[in-house]
Amino acid sequence: MLNGKRILLIIAGGIAAYKALELIRRLRERGAAVRCVLTGGGARFVTPLSVASLSGDKVYTDLFSLTDEAEMGHIELSRAADLVVVAPATADLLARMAHGRADDLAATALLATDKSVLVAPAMNLRMWLNPATQANMATLAARGVLTVGPNEGDMACGEYGPGRMAEADEIVSAVENFFGAGAPLSGRRALVTSGPTHEAIDPVRYLANRSSGKQGHAIALACARLGAEVTLVSGPTALADPAGVSVVRIESAEEMLAACMAALPVDVAVCAAAVSDWRPASPREQKIKKDGAAPELALAENPDILADLCAAGNRRPGLVVGFAAETESVVDNARAKLARKGCDWIVANDVSPATGAIGGDDNTVHLITAESVEDWPTMSKGAVAERLAARIAEHLKAGKNRA
Ligand code: C5P
Repeated sequence: MLNGKRILLIIAGGIAAYKALELIRRLRERGAAVRCVLTGGGARFVTPLSVASLSGDKVYTDLFSLTDEAEMGHIELSRAADLVVVAPATADLLARMAHGRADDLAATALLATDKSVLVAPAMNLRMWLNPATQANMATLAARGVLTVGPNEGDMACGEYGPGRMAEADEIVSAVENFFGAGAPLSGRRALVTSGPTHEAIDPVRYLANRSSGKQGHAIALACARLGAEVTLVSGPTALADPAGVSVVRIESAEEMLAACMAALPVDVAVCAAAVSDWRPASPREQKIKKDGAAPELALAENPDILADLCAAGNRRPGLVVGFAAETESVVDNARAKLARKGCDWIVANDVSPATGAIGGDDNTVHLITAESVEDWPTMSKGAVAERLAARIAEHLKAGKNRA
């Protein structure tokens, strides 16, 4: 299953480093090529010679080594792989990753890579449970870093709890899942819209809404993780770009429409953006002065991007998914919207203030198609995204046309 896959394995300094040797062996048994970076700490637990013998390749250790750089520079090292695995991922290396440090070869390769990263944390349980480590893990997860473990159990230091590195088998399964899951949308093109739009009133003021972009960004990431080539057209948000996604930043609905049309053809479009329905009809070129009476704000209707994508004739995406943010009669209103806009599926969510869906991390949605209504349990926006991406993959696999 891992035949021909190239894995860059970064081994940091922890007692679990010995398990990395077993990991190299198992990955190679399955056909993967494994190249290793050993940190200074890592080299105190396992020797470069054992790592080189098991990987069958040179071991890279030093950011400033002329021989290393001459053979393979650190940028190339981080990009020549299909996946970067960090095992063990120590508290220190995770903190350096979260903060974008580049103070040794491992951290530099992790900062320079354009590939997915899977970490297998290993540390004392107090270090793992420390809010600093948990915050670093949350930062990394939000950037799309994948995690396996840690497990709960006896620790080398005599304590019991979470912090033991996942076993080699579990890490291999996570790697296989990554590549296996990488198949369903590979060769497919996806367009995702996300975030609010900003509609200019004058050069400094705008109309907007409370959308955070969390759900749309999570969908773009989930589709990319399943192997799709994803264009994310996003209004202004505070979110980092999801890994492996090409992001087009826009401000207004008209710019979003142009960027979406430019991204066609695609196999699937997911319109998760909260597009402003109206824009100021004549935005002023100069800042409106406060003197005199309050200005009248005449509004013009914005283009409906979802409806326009559905009406794009032979450029219409094979599958078009809209969102319906409703505060009442959620399913009925969403069904009506499905028909009105001409899309294939609607993800309907209740955004009445009590649900906390807007700006929050969880979402309760219903997936509405022409044939059925599915009520999904309350899940994190990431989990909603993964389930939706899996459904999209199933649908496209069932033989729908390719872009
Ligand atoms: O009509 P309503 O705004 O409730 O529809 C929501 C769906 O339509 C979402 O998928 C949203 O991204 C999309 N939409 C759009 N362009 C608009 C308004 C909504 O693409 N101008």
